[in-house]
Amino acid sequence: MNDIKFQERIDAEKKIEPKDWMPDAYRKHLIRQISQHAHSEIIGMQPEGNWITRAPSLRAKMILLAKVQDEAGHGLYLYSACETLGISREELVQQLHEGKAKYSSIFNYPTLSWADMGAVGWLVDGAAIVNQVSLQRTSYGPYSRGMVKICKEESFHQRQGYEIMAEMAKGTPEQKAMAQDALNRFWWPSIMMFGPQDSDSPRTGNAMKWKIKRQTNDALRQDFIDKTVGQAEVIGLTIPDPDLKWNEERQSYDFGEMDWDEFWSVVNGNGPCNKQRLAHHKKAHDEGEWVRNAAKAYAKKQELVAN
Ligand code: 3HC
Repeated sequence: MNDIKFQERIDAEKKIEPKDWMPDAYRKHLIRQISQHAHSEIIGMQPEGNWITRAPSLRAKMILLAKVQDEAGHGLYLYSACETLGISREELVQQLHEGKAKYSSIFNYPTLSWADMGAVGWLVDGAAIVNQVSLQRTSYGPYSRGMVKICKEESFHQRQGYEIMAEMAKGTPEQKAMAQDALNRFWWPSIMMFGPQDSDSPRTGNAMKWKIKRQTNDALRQDFIDKTVGQAEVIGLTIPDPDLKWNEERQSYDFGEMDWDEFWSVVNGNGPCNKQRLAHHKKAHDEGEWVRNAAKAYAKKQELVAN
């Protein structure tokens, strides 16, 4: 097999499996994208985890607990998919801790009120659904199958968030104001989740050639905006973009200029919560070492018993 034959397989919509030959560059690109996706799932547990003990009802607490637990499972699927490319979990976590690997910018924003749990579920998981439904068709088998599983759970995540926003938007004036404030703070960072504009995206070329990505950043961002504007209108909230306007000719919404300085500043580690998120992850990782050691010892004992 060589690059030409490999590309023919990709073009013929054949899934690439772990034992198949693949160009090193394809393998490296996938390790990068899948590991950063996995890191995002795990770091993403922090902003919501902060509100589990402060949920306004037992029902809300149970829902949030279930959602945060799902995110841990999503991280597990993705780390496992990444390990099939020949890299260990330890190496992946080390890359995160050393700042050599990224996670989604959105998780570097603070969650200041209960309404933020609604905005995160509705907008962040809503954006993740648009991105991940597309990734179900990614060319790498383990990643594609992980996406199918994850997408089944994301819809619950988005619906529970939208339910919180809808409840608050029709509550007292203070509750509606809290929901609007959360939308104001999370709208732009949520659409930045889709990455830089296509013209400024160094990875999109190969990602599309190798069918790792099936749609570009701008296409997915537009799809999310078109899906979400109506949802805000239904619950009486206002998207904080004065330039948002339906374009009859394009059959899509035109929207305002994004703050790419803010985007790159957050991606490069200077967002409101970057340092806190990483410090928390390192602390939890260190404190969890005994669990990993116990699991390894148990696995080794089982191996000895089996042989
Ligand atoms: N946050 C942090 N880094 C980002 C970013 C963002 N929002 N958008 C882009 N970047 C990084 C890219 O990783 C790349 O960095 P690298 O070269 O060091 O890997 C660089 O900026 C250039 O961006 P590109 O657009 O060229 O990179 P990609 O082609 O990889 O596109 C992506 C970026 C759209 C995020 C793509 O990697 C992707 O689709 N990843 C899988 C989905 C994912 O990771 N989603 C994150 C959220 S997960 C989530 O929300 C979980 C939910 O349950 C809450």
